[in-house]
Amino acid sequence: MAAAPDAWKPRNRTLRWIEDRLPIFGFLREHTVEYYAPKNFNFMYFFGSLALLLLVNQIVTGIFLAMNFNPTSAGAFASIEYIMRDVEWGWLIRYMHVTGASLFFVVIYLHMFRALMYGSYKQPRELLWVIGMLIYLALMAEAFMGYVLPWGQMSFWGAKVIISLFGAVPVIGNQLVEWIMGDFLPSGATLNRFFALHVIALPLVLLLLVVLHLGALHTSGSNNPDGIEIKQHKGADGKPLDGIPFHPYYTVKDLVGVGFFLLLAAFIIFYQPTFFGLFLEHDNYVPANSLVTPAAIHPVWYFTPFYAMLRSVPSKGLGVITLFAAIAVLFFLPWIDRGKVKAMRYRGASYKVALAIFALTFIWLGKIGIGESTWIGDTYIARALTGVYFGFFVFLWAYTYFGWERTKPVPERVTMHE
Ligand code: HEM
Repeated sequence: MAAAPDAWKPRNRTLRWIEDRLPIFGFLREHTVEYYAPKNFNFMYFFGSLALLLLVNQIVTGIFLAMNFNPTSAGAFASIEYIMRDVEWGWLIRYMHVTGASLFFVVIYLHMFRALMYGSYKQPRELLWVIGMLIYLALMAEAFMGYVLPWGQMSFWGAKVIISLFGAVPVIGNQLVEWIMGDFLPSGATLNRFFALHVIALPLVLLLLVVLHLGALHTSGSNNPDGIEIKQHKGADGKPLDGIPFHPYYTVKDLVGVGFFLLLAAFIIFYQPTFFGLFLEHDNYVPANSLVTPAAIHPVWYFTPFYAMLRSVPSKGLGVITLFAAIAVLFFLPWIDRGKVKAMRYRGASYKVALAIFALTFIWLGKIGIGESTWIGDTYIARALTGVYFGFFVFLWAYTYFGWERTKPVPERVTMHE
């Protein structure tokens, strides 16, 4: 005998009363047990749930940091030292927040790369991708402002360099810089407003965008390593034949990813929290001083690919345009890539080579942007790599627009690669 249609509803009378008026359990059910995800997800599909975990980590540890942080130019640096030395477990909370920020970007870059591997930005998921890009922008703003808060040397000079970029805007540039800083130099006013934006405004924006992101995902359904739309093959019960319920199958599988991830994160937090000066830079252990410029000013590693592009261009105006264009071009990816085949495994060989070169270019630019080497040749290499970065998009457009791509036949149904 088939179960009654509402057999899953809570038995408890109070919960049932609530459920009949506000179907919370029904909503959760619709998006977990009744959400069918392709059965062939591989480990590249761990990173969405890990990003979610990191967002929660940043918010929870951030709340505890804010309880002891003093958002003034006179008190910020000392309050961080106080958290590290005197607040119970303060060191752990801070390292979880700082390491969490860097790991968030590792996870997000892999999450985005997965989309390039399997064409997840293509129709019908263009909006999902665009919302993802908005998340990426908000995340960059969030991380940048957070970095300013400890008011170390790199906080101060990083803020000065990055905010000054807005000075390249024609006519209103200088006023714009002053308006953002609230002063002529990064000062207490800047720190205070960045604190407000970092702890409340941007987290709210991020949360809202993530809800929209997941809403768009559940509307189109997940893509998969075969790039096949599972909704096109449904059984008599209306469920996709190649799909499995997200809960319990992927909740359990994602827990495996979470387990590995937490091991790695714990290893970094407990044994190498500054990650050799990459996650927390040495210069930021020196209090901000507007009269002493650090030997090399550069942002944290996750911004350095774009920073290297900026610095490789001789004119400031053009450099800023290049920097913004490098991010903006990603928004248009769904319309630049006109190829019909989504997944890399069925795409032309040239796409695979181009994607590998693109990823290596990004990493190499990131390495140059950290600015450890003072070799003049780096500027020329960065300039060439900037060309390769943009060249990837030009190539992708021409390759798919003129029909040069030789794709492999895409199977009807998903395949399982053990
Ligand atoms: C706070 C940040 C983010 C969170 C929490 C998040 C969360 C998720 C989750 C849970 C999924 C489901 C599949 C999976 O687990 O991989 C997903 C899919 C996706 N995300 Fe994100 N995401 C974030 C940022 C981004 C960014 C920055 C982009 C790209 C610019 C992006 C693009 C996509 C795309 C294209 C998919 C569909 C993948 C597919 O079905 O193959 N996401 N996201």
